[in-house]
Amino acid sequence: MQIQWPSLVQRNSPANSWKAQLAASNQAAQFYPTPLSIAREMLELAATAPEDTVYDPGSGDGRIPILAAQEFGCRAVGIEIDHSLFSHSAARATELGLADRVRFEQANLFTADYRSATVVTLYLLSIVNEQLQPRLASHLRSGARIVSLDFPIPGWKPDRVVPVRSVLDVAYTLYLYCRRLSGARAICLANNLEPGTCFPEHQRAHA
Ligand SMILES: C[S@@+](CC[C@H](N)C(=O)[O-])C[C@H]1O[C@@H](n2cnc3c(N)ncnc32)[C@H](O)[C@@H]1O
Repeated sequence: MQIQWPSLVQRNSPANSWKAQLAASNQAAQFYPTPLSIAREMLELAATAPEDTVYDPGSGDGRIPILAAQEFGCRAVGIEIDHSLFSHSAARATELGLADRVRFEQANLFTADYRSATVVTLYLLSIVNEQLQPRLASHLRSGARIVSLDFPIPGWKPDRVVPVRSVLDVAYTLYLYCRRLSGARAICLANNLEPGTCFPEHQRAHA
């Protein structure tokens, strides 16, 4: 079963119909690539640095993990269910000499292990983000940042909502969520942010 990426009309369709489609399939979204300039802004908003490990659940052609390693000097992992997209991504990372820092897994984003992630990028429907949210809450450590393109994570309050435009002048919205730190060393502070407030109290116990 193939779920179509939502047109404006589909975005307004009843949430229950999306839930039914999701429940019937692991295919959470079609491949719909993030423009490179927007991917760069997502990684910048997360204050991505060489010590980070970026995870992209549903990594498509691998552009975000590859960009993260190339331009931000960090490690990156792409999780992609589609075999041809996974193969293309892995081959591209090898071709670019990035295989020591970029890894792709052909796996289901709903069951992947995010415990090593310090930055997570999302370009998935809110209903998919909603299903992924408990896993991210339990796996991500203090200081981790999540940047979601266009689709917020239901139930979490974003630390920042940033309107951006692509080089083709298409409008997008970035949602930044920061994992709450127990101490003062808030990476969010690098962006003049209060440490994250998005994780509900019962989930902070895992931080
Ligand atoms: C909208 S695209 C985003 C691609 C990439 N993250 C980007 O921003 O350019 C969503 C991707 O998620 C993949 N996908 C869908 N369901 C998945 C699942 N259950 N596990 C892993 N990947 C999945 C699709 O094959 C597709 O490549």
